[in-house]
Amino acid sequence: MKISVIGCGYLGVVHATCMAELGHEVVGIDVDKSKIASLSEGKPTFFEPGLPELLASALASGRLTFSEDIGRAADAQVHFIAVGTPQTGDTYAADLSYVNAAVTALLPHLGAGDLVVGKSTVPVGTAEMLHAMITAGSDASLAWNPEFLREGFAVADTISPDRLVYGIAAGTATGAGNAEAILDEVYAAALAEGTPKVVTDFATAELVKVAANAFLATKISFINAMAEVAEVTGADVTQLADAIGYDARIGRRFLNAGLGFGGGCLPKDIRAFMARAEELGVDQALSFLREVDSINLRRRGRMVDLVNEMLDGSAAGKRIAVLGLAFKPNSDDVRDSPALDVAVRLVELGAIVTATDPEALETARRKRPELTYVATAEEAVRDADVVVLLTEWSEYRELDPTGISTLVRGAVIVDGRNCLNPARWRAAGWTYRALGRP
Ligand code: UDX
Repeated sequence: MKISVIGCGYLGVVHATCMAELGHEVVGIDVDKSKIASLSEGKPTFFEPGLPELLASALASGRLTFSEDIGRAADAQVHFIAVGTPQTGDTYAADLSYVNAAVTALLPHLGAGDLVVGKSTVPVGTAEMLHAMITAGSDASLAWNPEFLREGFAVADTISPDRLVYGIAAGTATGAGNAEAILDEVYAAALAEGTPKVVTDFATAELVKVAANAFLATKISFINAMAEVAEVTGADVTQLADAIGYDARIGRRFLNAGLGFGGGCLPKDIRAFMARAEELGVDQALSFLREVDSINLRRRGRMVDLVNEMLDGSAAGKRIAVLGLAFKPNSDDVRDSPALDVAVRLVELGAIVTATDPEALETARRKRPELTYVATAEEAVRDADVVVLLTEWSEYRELDPTGISTLVRGAVIVDGRNCLNPARWRAAGWTYRALGRP
């Protein structure tokens, strides 16, 4: 099929590349000139495992191109909207200006029977409004098709999603059946693999996305709340998670206690969901998400307190090695990163912080130039009074405690992600502390 993807951020680039990989003819469109130039040369503007290889092969096949010219969308029949919906500056609500601008720019280029497909995460009710705009200004129609990809696994999640959700307007000019048939053709490969499909209305499709993220955030904050209780009772939250996780109704995934969630989705999506619920008069239904957010943010403060405690109550003037800055491993994303937040707070306490990350050094430096960055863990830990692990990259999990103990000043480690083996570190002479563990 001929596809345009409007917005070449994380979601758009991965989607455009994977669609080309699946055999479709795709143009990725973005207003950012430098992004288009970089992508056209086969260089993604962010780190994502497997993407550079796939991008190179899709460009070489001739099926994928990038352009600043929205007019190029006129050749396509299916148009994915993949622009960002960030949190607005002063409220919890999502900023819809990029979505509105994308659809407005696309309108004059839509042909009869075209399908615009919303992928961006939006407040419930947005699709209905966009659908009215599209049907009034063209002979095209709209479907809402939320995206569930995880950073670090974005390619696999796009090629083989665990489910497909189509939000479709009933009884419109192009008809519900038509939109479904078009999307079936786009996703023919995944459907042939047996991927489950849910065909529903706009509101449900929009809500599926935010409900999924709210559930995941709640699961993480639940176990972090248990960590708070474990900290005052001497219990071990990691064993607690293992034990409750054996109950298939609960499940062990997303029960890793530690510094909590961050990134470009979970935090802003639960806040936008609360803001929308308030507009709809059902804020009480989501008041628990306020607590989910608070528990999550409290973990960062607790981490700083624990590091301070390890430094006899005063981090000022002490040397702290920070391992990890990205919001999670296998990503260079530092948006709302708990790790970067903790590193900055330690600097604010007067500590001498030396930070490292396998991929997020540049993104972190751009956001927080005041930190000192080094390329490797070995450099970061040199002469440190305490080592603080904030993102569970596999190379930090595999650090040799005996080897690095010769580099540090104080063999003290605080594990913010519960990802190290305490017995192993203690046996090598380290003082090991973690969140939610004795
Ligand atoms: C998330 C959703 O998983 C994805 O479906 C949606 O499309 C976008 O948002 P992502 O932001 O890539 O994806 O990250 P995810 O893997 O969900 O992790 C989010 C945060 O939760 C990370 O900061 C991670 O460190 C943290 N986390 C995750 C925990 O603290 N504990 C866990 O057990 C799992």
